Amino acid sequence: MIKVQELRKVYRQPIKKEGLKGVLLHYFKPKYVDKIAVDEINFEINEGESVAYLGKNGAGKSTTIKILTGILQPTMGKVLIDNIDPQRNRKDYNKTIGVVFGQRTQLWWDLPISESFKLIKEIYQIDDRTYEHNLTIFSELLDLNEFLHLSARKISLGQRMRADIAAALLHNPKILYLDEPTIGLDIVAKEKIRKFLRFINKEFKTTILLTTHDMGDIEELCDRLILIDSGKILYDGDLESVIKKYARLKKIQIRVENISKYEVLNGEFCNLGATLEALSEKEISVSFDYLEISASEVISLVMNYMTILDLKIEESGIEFILKQVYEGNLILEEGGE
Ligand SMILES: Nc1ncnc2c1ncn2[C@@H]1O[C@H](COP(=O)(O)OP(=O)(O)OP(=O)(O)O)[C@@H](O)[C@H]1O
Ligand SMILES: [Mg+2]
Repeated sequence: MIKVQELRKVYRQPIKKEGLKGVLLHYFKPKYVDKIAVDEINFEINEGESVAYLGKNGAGKSTTIKILTGILQPTMGKVLIDNIDPQRNRKDYNKTIGVVFGQRTQLWWDLPISESFKLIKEIYQIDDRTYEHNLTIFSELLDLNEFLHLSARKISLGQRMRADIAAALLHNPKILYLDEPTIGLDIVAKEKIRKFLRFINKEFKTTILLTTHDMGDIEELCDRLILIDSGKILYDGDLESVIKKYARLKKIQIRVENISKYEVLNGEFCNLGATLEALSEKEISVSFDYLEISASEVISLVMNYMTILDLKIEESGIEFILKQVYEGNLILEEGGE
């Protein structure tokens, strides 16, 4: 459904000095620096897949989504979506896709949501039956009825996001792109949206490509991860095997009276293949593989050298794994266990 080959996007960013002088200087003698936001990436996504496109802030996620949706032109490379080139065939392409940007709405600010939906019906030439059918299902699953008569300007963020997602799906697109669809939403609203998207993915076989910084979105919605950093793909594979493979890692954060015996303790943990870190004068952390060494062994070893005041064991789910990757402490390997 989605084919991305050697995709590259370079932004030309102006170099400006501060103040009026800087503005004038830039006006007469502009200087630029090239920022490679997406660096020759390749991937393919099949029909019906639900993929999380992840990476740190500034990794190049939104840039990729904007290219895939046809908003931005790539500097190099090829994108083919449902056999359509988004740049060449905008009109056909727009019927194939639905797009939701969590940071801004695509609804008409001053129109009641129901009128925005009707406009979308006309623009996409959605037949009456499909429109009524979808509106009924979406209204029920996303509780739209309570605010359909209000304008986008007047509804809350959570309501607006639900309206935006419904709007993006009214024309039964084959692909749905979502850029941070649950940003700023409360737990209940997030849950509702995730459930709905899961339903759409399963029932309508809609292919989903989603960027998010919310681990719940990934765990509940996606089967596969594509992880990027500085515009390059770090990992592409299924979520379950990543969790299985790396969930063995655990981290214990321990508050102690003092860390004067740090060096000796460090030697002990090195011998066991665990990593000790001093977070402050009174705080250490130990990262370890719990199949090799147990949490109680870690704690008793620390107790031999330090007085423990408090401790916290970090979750070993996808959040922990990604944190380790984003901090540069873990490199995910593709393939089996
Ligand atoms: N229009 C632009 N002009 C110049 N540079 C840009 C532009 N848009 C993005 N960039 C730069 O390209 C890089 C990638 O940005 P992008 O928005 O794709 O990141 P992201 O992965 O979506 O990050 P976030 O998680 O913060 O949303 C960043 O360094 C950003 O500063
Ligand atoms: Mg972004």
